[in-house]
Amino acid sequence: MQILTAIRERFRKVLQDLLSDPALVHSSLERIVPSRDPGLADYQANIAMPLQKVLGKPPLEIAQGVVDRLDLSDICQSVSVAGAGYINLRLAPSWLAEQLQRAYSDSRLGVTQVDPPKTIIIDYSSPNVAKPMHVGHIRSTVIGDAISKVLRFLGHNVITDNHLGDWGTQFGMIIYGYKHFCDQAAYQKHPVAELSRLYRKVQAISGYQEALVQVSKLEQAIEFAQRRLEQIQAKLAAAPADKKIAKELTSAERAVATAQDELQSNANKIADLQKDNLLMSESTTHPQIYEKVLAETARLHRGDEGNLKLWNEFLPNCREEIDTIYQRLNVQFDHWYGESFYHDMLNAVVEELFAKGLAVQSDGAVCVFFEGSEAPMIVQKQDGAYLYATTDLATAMFREREFSPDISLYVVDHRQGDHFRKLFSVLDKIGLDRTDFRHISFGTVMGTDGKPFKTRSGSTVGLESMLDEAVARAMEVVCNPDRLGGSGIQMDDQERLEIAETVGLGAIKYADLAHNRTSDYIFDMDKMVRLEGNTSAYIQYSYARIRSILRKAEEKGWKQVQWELSPMDLSQGSELALALHLVRFEEMLQQSMQDYTPNMITDYLYDLAKLYSSFYEQCSVLNSQSQAEGYSRLKLSSIVARTLKCGLELLGIGVVERM
Ligand code: ARG
Repeated sequence: MQILTAIRERFRKVLQDLLSDPALVHSSLERIVPSRDPGLADYQANIAMPLQKVLGKPPLEIAQGVVDRLDLSDICQSVSVAGAGYINLRLAPSWLAEQLQRAYSDSRLGVTQVDPPKTIIIDYSSPNVAKPMHVGHIRSTVIGDAISKVLRFLGHNVITDNHLGDWGTQFGMIIYGYKHFCDQAAYQKHPVAELSRLYRKVQAISGYQEALVQVSKLEQAIEFAQRRLEQIQAKLAAAPADKKIAKELTSAERAVATAQDELQSNANKIADLQKDNLLMSESTTHPQIYEKVLAETARLHRGDEGNLKLWNEFLPNCREEIDTIYQRLNVQFDHWYGESFYHDMLNAVVEELFAKGLAVQSDGAVCVFFEGSEAPMIVQKQDGAYLYATTDLATAMFREREFSPDISLYVVDHRQGDHFRKLFSVLDKIGLDRTDFRHISFGTVMGTDGKPFKTRSGSTVGLESMLDEAVARAMEVVCNPDRLGGSGIQMDDQERLEIAETVGLGAIKYADLAHNRTSDYIFDMDKMVRLEGNTSAYIQYSYARIRSILRKAEEKGWKQVQWELSPMDLSQGSELALALHLVRFEEMLQQSMQDYTPNMITDYLYDLAKLYSSFYEQCSVLNSQSQAEGYSRLKLSSIVARTLKCGLELLGIGVVERM
């Protein structure tokens, strides 16, 4: 049930009589919104002011005229005109009770299915395999999983696709590593571990060699910048009052300082790596390793038998590693069309771009240029290699043929914003303009030090160990014997472990989702596994608490079969506030999918848990004055519990029956 839709429908009838222009009716309806001041109204319609000119009447008169003709008597307790012509709506408790009754009897809590549904593809998680997965991957996985669950729940036809990076340079790295550094015994015993060791080794050598190259480039740059600085200093000496030259001087000084900083950081990195004797000797015996890696990658793409055999051998191992993580996070995909799947379609993509007059040869490469000065999209390099963009074009074309999506979402890091802007523009031009392509971008995960999240040793944190830590923290915070003893809960180890897993993983997911996805977010394990505040543990605790109240009611002889038949009575303010929030569940879910912002759901759940807590403080449930009152409150509590559970599950987070 969407209250707003119901109210707007009533207004539509009146406005259609009043206004001849359908666009005006539409824009007026958009101005009916939930009130920001609950003391004043539940909903507010600010439609009269903008119609003043059109209708040539004062807003107050327009508003009154609308109200006189409006029939909201069943939904609203009062409809009044205030201020300069606002229409204030207060919902009727009887109507709220009726909606709650309906939600109670419905397994979907009264949430209707959209009609007609849309076909929506969600491309998320999509890690580059062969590299260990790290904390950055969790954002795409968690956000994408939540969005797909919510859209599915709303009734859309959702198709999830894990666009694995299974064809890129990282495979060149492990192929090269395997051919030159593999410890066969270790590989036989634990292939994944040996492959990641090889990946890290080749990466380290290549990083070292790249830093050396950077250093020499930076030294030249500094020399150049310093010469420029001296020239400007001389100019300024000749004309000391010239503000423009003074400005140039500041920027030249800054250029020198930046280059010096960069040089320093590269020099530090080199000094660090030089402590590793083995790495140094390997770097000497494997000069220009990155070029060799690229050559191995190219050989793979050309269909070289040996490399293809290795790739086929490595891939299941890499998949197995990420599967463990997905299993633990309880994330599934409908499809796993990785980059390799599109390899044979890339040639046709370039041909189609030529045929449509979109691609041109430029410096031996094939490019698509855009209006304005933007850099082009390169779809084929001089050496014939295809790029990430080419694969993404092929992917979108394949998805169009296979699924004809109405909406296509890419849940990917904000740093790829430029790539997707260009991609969507090209897709539009080649005729895939019926699909609404969206980059669901998200910010970087930062450490509490304000820098991208790293462990103390400097490497990005492995996902598995991070999940383990969250679970261990949850065990400390939620399952410590003192706390449980204090609340009289007896638990065996098995149950404690299960609770810690649900609470710990929930904490990580929730913290990620509770932030506005477009901003960077600070990964703070201490904050996320807390029982107070906007955390999953708080919501899970609220759920468990209501479940315990329901169990106690049963013990007291208040059987569910009895209380679920009794009428709902919403006479207290805190009951009404809770009821209003509950019936807005669907409206909130719809809104959260307008810009795909799951944080609207966490906010809603947090508010719901808080509203329940104040309701529980103000209204006795188990010791209520009459049985009828107790029954009504039990029913209200039960709907709250189910809504909390449903909301958390849509975010991919579980609940526990007690904690
Ligand atoms: N594998 C890419 C990366 O890790 C993300 C892929 C996102 N999806 C896509 N269709 N481009 O950066």
